Amino acid sequence: MRAVNKGTPEELLQETLPVIPTMDVVVFPHMIVPLLVLDERIINGINASMNGSKKVLLLAARKKVEEENEAIGTKDLYDLGTISSIMRVIKVPEGGLKILVQGICKAQVEEIIANEEQLHVVANPLPLINYSVEESAPYLKKIKDLAEKISASNHLFNPDFHLILSKMNDPIKIADFILSHLNLGTQEAQELLETTTQEEFLEGIIAQLNKTIEVSETQERIRNRARDSMNKAQKEFYLREQLKAIKQELGEDDAEEIDSMRLKIAELNLDDEVLQEINRQINRLEKTSPDSVEATVTRNYIETILALPWNIETKDNLNLEHASKILDEDHYGLKDVKERILDFISIRNLKDDGYAPILCFSGPPGIGKTSLGESIARALGRKHFRISLGGVKDESEIRGHRRTYVGSMPGRIIQGVRKAGSKNPIIIIDELDKIGADFRGDPSAAMLEVLDPQQNKTFYDNYLGVPFDISKAIFIATANNIDAISEPLRDRMEVIQLAGYTSEEKLNIAKQHLVKRSLKETGLENKGIELSDEVLTALIDNYTQEPGVRNLERLIKKLCSKAARALVEKKESLLFLPETLDKHLGPKRLIDLEKGEGNQVGITNGLAWTPFGGEMLKIEAILIPGKGKVILTGQLGDVMKESATAALSYARAHAAEFNINQDRFTEYDLHIHVPAGGTPKDGPSGGMALLSSILSVLTNRPINATYAMTGEINLRGKVMPIGGVREKILAAKRNNIETVILPIQNKNDLVNQEEVTLGINVLWVENADEVLDKVLMPQIA
Ligand SMILES: Nc1ncnc2c1ncn2[C@@H]1O[C@H](COP(=O)(O)OP(=O)(O)O)[C@@H](O)[C@H]1O
Ligand SMILES: [Mg+2]
Repeated sequence: MRAVNKGTPEELLQETLPVIPTMDVVVFPHMIVPLLVLDERIINGINASMNGSKKVLLLAARKKVEEENEAIGTKDLYDLGTISSIMRVIKVPEGGLKILVQGICKAQVEEIIANEEQLHVVANPLPLINYSVEESAPYLKKIKDLAEKISASNHLFNPDFHLILSKMNDPIKIADFILSHLNLGTQEAQELLETTTQEEFLEGIIAQLNKTIEVSETQERIRNRARDSMNKAQKEFYLREQLKAIKQELGEDDAEEIDSMRLKIAELNLDDEVLQEINRQINRLEKTSPDSVEATVTRNYIETILALPWNIETKDNLNLEHASKILDEDHYGLKDVKERILDFISIRNLKDDGYAPILCFSGPPGIGKTSLGESIARALGRKHFRISLGGVKDESEIRGHRRTYVGSMPGRIIQGVRKAGSKNPIIIIDELDKIGADFRGDPSAAMLEVLDPQQNKTFYDNYLGVPFDISKAIFIATANNIDAISEPLRDRMEVIQLAGYTSEEKLNIAKQHLVKRSLKETGLENKGIELSDEVLTALIDNYTQEPGVRNLERLIKKLCSKAARALVEKKESLLFLPETLDKHLGPKRLIDLEKGEGNQVGITNGLAWTPFGGEMLKIEAILIPGKGKVILTGQLGDVMKESATAALSYARAHAAEFNINQDRFTEYDLHIHVPAGGTPKDGPSGGMALLSSILSVLTNRPINATYAMTGEINLRGKVMPIGGVREKILAAKRNNIETVILPIQNKNDLVNQEEVTLGINVLWVENADEVLDKVLMPQIA
């Protein structure tokens, strides 16, 4: 960028020239600089100038303009610039011009003339500074000394820099050379441009060189400080030290954050083991660059530790009257369960850390298992949280991830404890029977540890890496199907079986709890909205078919939101009637089509128990021409298949009593099918229903469809007891059955549960004969 000294103005006459504003660069006389011009007005000026003197005035812009093509306001331009000649113009295909200009002399702007088309100035050229070699000699020596110092200590200038400089003598050349190497900011450069004497100019250059040296010395200091404490083997460590030094230089230390962490720890009163670990982590954080991934991981860890309730406990309210009141407030009925809960609280009264069993509520969905857990927390005045184990396959969900990556977290237990904010919360372990297992470990093993009072004093979460005491927590588990829980886990718990509700119970639950709650949630309290008993009964009987009340609650909420909308939109109170419910809820869920089908040959109403409540199943049998084979379909399990075979044998043995021709057994195949949703079915309790269907097809006598039955039979025709009586009766009631047939040995199951059999007849039987007498109807002609 060395300029040829030409074009010195012989006469310093005022001139009118087009202006080229420059950004980030100040052009000095002699300098040759390429520029890119995009602005239309400036291009016009250049074109005009190319047709005449080829001269323009370069003016530096004060501040950087964000958008390159944004026009610079005239007020942003310095008023002293450099008259330059345009050496070359190249059109850029994308638009704009690339030009090469060379500075001639400085000029003071007298007036800026800006119009739509062009930007001109009236400028007064200034004389070039006269350099005297003699007078500038001491300055030049100083400049050379400084430049040498810089190039010796620093990599800013290339190695040949001072070699070239030492050979130069012409002050102008030296000044140009230095100028082109110093990385000056616009303002600094402009200040140099505005100097009027050689002393001023050279002193300015010296000042800039000194500044450069200061910067490079600071850098050197930082590097040295880091180097002093450097361990040869640890490059990483070196970099961190360097960063620390830089931060000290900038005054940005994270010392404050770390100090406040230490203060908090002192307040937490931690065990030695925990204390040691967290101090180790804080020391580590101190040495880590605060913006590094590692620091983030460490900081999250420390925050988690600090946020845990190591020594925070809530005080229990063990007043039994109070507890009883809360339990009644939250749940209708459930007398036995509530009694059991009060027993549980009494034990705590006597011995607050004494053995308290883990309660497990088991039963179909929507019967209040989870909400009972919450209610107990409310009664005791404890914090609570719920972890749902449905589909949890990975042990680390419970026990946490190791702190090896940014997203690692504690497991759900520790997360819950952190949120609850006390170390003695009630932990509701929901759907314990749905826990899974896969290659990532067996979460039920982790649950075993959680629920073991011997081990959970020092519960170990992989993320924490130190033990946390969860032995003060109360665990309450829920499950649909207690049999699906592994035996060791089941042994830890006291199982409380809850059953589905009768329609009457549901009505009361709705009246006393669900409606109130829904009105409150929709802001309809005291707004005169009512759901009559008839409406609620219609919801229960026609729109839901469930052992619990979850759908019922959903429908009530739906009606409430309809009422809310009518109130807001039309200012009217909706009146709900059983006949008009379909307007709001769509057609009834259950049309009584089962009843309509009437009595048929080979079809018996069986009753089954499932984890989701009782269910009525049609057991179908037909004869097809064949050779006496038995075909079973409908995903029947082995036990059920055996019951079918046993029932068939019984029928064969008693063929004469029922007037069955023996060829029915040899010239036909018997096909037994149990429909309903492809769900697997198993168990012996279908024996009686299977026998009824089989005898029905063999004798061609229809089965009375107002009956439903359950019961195992042995080969001698004795009816044996079965499980899930209450659920099965409720299912029969939901299906509008008139009489339910049950094994007499199950009679005790219904002691104190008279409400269950309200509205249905029960036929207690001992022998298959008694059943067949009732259900097999006369042969159709
Ligand atoms: N006996 C009851 N009294 C009042 N509300 C009940 C009763 N049983 C269930 N509920 C309500 O029904 C809803 C579903 O209960 P939930 O506890 O979720 O059932 P589960 O956990 O057994 O599936 C909750 O809003 C709950 O309060
Ligand atoms: Mg639940």
